[in-house]
Amino acid sequence: MRKSLLVGQGAYLPERIVTNAELAKSVDTTDDWIVQRTGIYQRHIAADGELTSDLAIAAAEKALVSAGLEASDIDLIVLATTTPDDTFPATATKVQATLGITHGAAFDVQAVCAGFVYSLAIADNFIKAGQAQRALVIGAETFTRLLDWQDRTTCVLFGDGAGAVILEATDASDANAAYGVLSTHLHSDGRFRDILFVDGGPSATKTVGQVRMNGKEVFRHAVGKLANVIDETLTTHALGVDDIDWLIPHQANRRIIDNLTAKLGLPVERVVCAIERHANTSAASVPLALAESMASGDIKSGDLVLFEAIGGGLSWGAGLVRLGRP
Ligand code: ACO
Repeated sequence: MRKSLLVGQGAYLPERIVTNAELAKSVDTTDDWIVQRTGIYQRHIAADGELTSDLAIAAAEKALVSAGLEASDIDLIVLATTTPDDTFPATATKVQATLGITHGAAFDVQAVCAGFVYSLAIADNFIKAGQAQRALVIGAETFTRLLDWQDRTTCVLFGDGAGAVILEATDASDANAAYGVLSTHLHSDGRFRDILFVDGGPSATKTVGQVRMNGKEVFRHAVGKLANVIDETLTTHALGVDDIDWLIPHQANRRIIDNLTAKLGLPVERVVCAIERHANTSAASVPLALAESMASGDIKSGDLVLFEAIGGGLSWGAGLVRLGRP
């Protein structure tokens, strides 16, 4: 029996920061409205010509350094993104080539904001099945390229960025039992497609559309479905919220995070919130928040961390991980 340990992490944010006040010069909004309704103060936006693969590679390189590994040690790359460089090939193969890796497999996963949790589950299952030894799991987005800058109800919410983690195979012996990916839980329900989508694509229109959202409905589903999947995760391990060192929620909206943690009875001190600096970076939000919190020393190797995310589909999920090597 095998299992995977989470042995490294890295993040990358584009240089350019756009504050709410700057946005308010071109969109009918205010800093006050955005802060009150979302908790967002600023977002990073990729430079012209800076692609999702560039962000992914920068985060991946940092993750390799933090794990003490070489690129050649990686035999699986799973890249979660809604904003690939091209329709094909997978952006993951560009990351693979740039890192100089010529063995193993690399592919993209499309589960929008839940993409990182989905990719973590996929990589963990590849490792458990004996099909990979060390996996690079990346969430990377240039999500602002999907925005309609005339639609104030959506364009203020998102940013660009990337986060990456490395999973490493180990034996599922007693010594390793408490460490690594303890479980993942995935769900989707396509009946809710119409409350959050970007239309267009090669099969339908050849051109990519822009984000459309029923914010109130997304909010309602997010709180309920995330509370349920967290409950499902804790129940699987007969744990309570007090047993978790950190919740790293998808960074969509401060009010969703606050509602959820109040519903769970989880103290805010143990909930990672980076929304004020990053806005919603979709698939990148969870690994980005993890890498930043580990770099600052708030989260440490050995901590028990619960990840969750929800996005278009609807697709949602959670993962319970004790970080580092035993
Ligand atoms: N600036 C100023 N006014 C605005 C803005 C803005 N950027 N956007 C909307 N308004 C106005 C509306 O037009 C409306 O005006 P009206 O009363 O004159 O009609 C008023 O503010 C209230 O609008 P609501 O839509 O009712 O505002 P609400 O409190 O629902 O907040 C929000 C909107 C922030 C989008 C909220 O519904 C939300 O956070 N939903 C979750 C959506 C989300 O996080 N999506 C991310 C992608 S999905 C995911 O990652 C989970």
